[in-house]
Amino acid sequence: MLSFHQVVRSDFDSVNQTIINQLHSDVGLVENIGHYIVDAGGKRLRPLLVLLIAKALAYEGKQHIDLAAIIEFIHTATLLHDDVVDISSLRRGRETANAKWGNAPSVLVGDFLYSRAFQMMVEVGSMELMHILSGTTNVIAEGEVQQLVNIGNHDLEEANYMTVIHKKTAALFEAACETAAVIAKANKEQQQSARTYGYHLGVAFQLVDDVLDYDSNAEDLGKNVGDDLAEGKPTLPLIHAINHGDEKSADIIRNAIEQGSVEKLDEILAIVKASGSLMYTKEKAIQHVQLAKEAIEDFAPTTFKDALIDLANFSVERSF
Ligand code: IPE
Ligand code: IPE
Ligand code: MG
Ligand code: MG
Repeated sequence: MLSFHQVVRSDFDSVNQTIINQLHSDVGLVENIGHYIVDAGGKRLRPLLVLLIAKALAYEGKQHIDLAAIIEFIHTATLLHDDVVDISSLRRGRETANAKWGNAPSVLVGDFLYSRAFQMMVEVGSMELMHILSGTTNVIAEGEVQQLVNIGNHDLEEANYMTVIHKKTAALFEAACETAAVIAKANKEQQQSARTYGYHLGVAFQLVDDVLDYDSNAEDLGKNVGDDLAEGKPTLPLIHAINHGDEKSADIIRNAIEQGSVEKLDEILAIVKASGSLMYTKEKAIQHVQLAKEAIEDFAPTTFKDALIDLANFSVERSF
């Protein structure tokens, strides 16, 4: 367990119990696939953010438990869908649901989890939460589609890539933090600070994810490396190398993006290292983590705030 879990340990256990309880369905396949991906764990960063922000803002009630489970359900739904779209075969150290059961069950169980999240939101009964989270799921879907449109495009600009990672990943981090501040009845300024923290953390998190897709290994990561290249996904390490490497290197990368081929993965890994592109991406992540930490500077000093800072640091130091 990561150190920043400790301060919300008992709430975290309640969230996990809520997740298990809410997976129930009369249809066996729904429960099988639901449990398969949920039981594999994952880092549970987004529900942790909900708990930590709520507690950092002195929340005393119980709604943060359901809210954290809701956010994790939305995240899990996006993973089921994302692995179909990305044709990925490994997730959380296991064969993906699409590899094991096929695309159709993965998509449909993803829909089940999405809609279960919305059922749970209705139970919480806050229109403000519904407003934020319905907008967020819509933005995530839009980001994934925008990314799909960008597949194979070796001329993609950094700004376009940044928009995609904001939508597909940072939006949920933002929403987790903002909604936690909303249920804590924090003032508008604190709600905005929480949202800003989540935004920068989410951007940093995805930047690092895109580095790890080149510079890690399946054992640590629980996902296969090279998936982005296999798909022809122009992520920042490649965009930077095309614009800053020598012409020959740039051509190798352009071709690989166009063809969605991992044939030259080793060579491309050497290029993104030599051109400083992995470093550039990582440094950008570090800058965003710094901004995340600055965003919550005005929060009262508590162990929860310390954990939020640790979590931000972890998101760039991580190898999984
Ligand atoms: C994976 O997120 C999807 C991305 C936004 C990169 P996580 O790395 O948080 O996934 P789990 O939940 O820990 O498996
Ligand atoms: C994650 O994008 C975004 C969502 C799941 C919405 P990636 O495709 O980079 O995530 P991984 O690497 O498969 O976890
Ligand atoms: Mg993916
Ligand atoms: Mg990835």
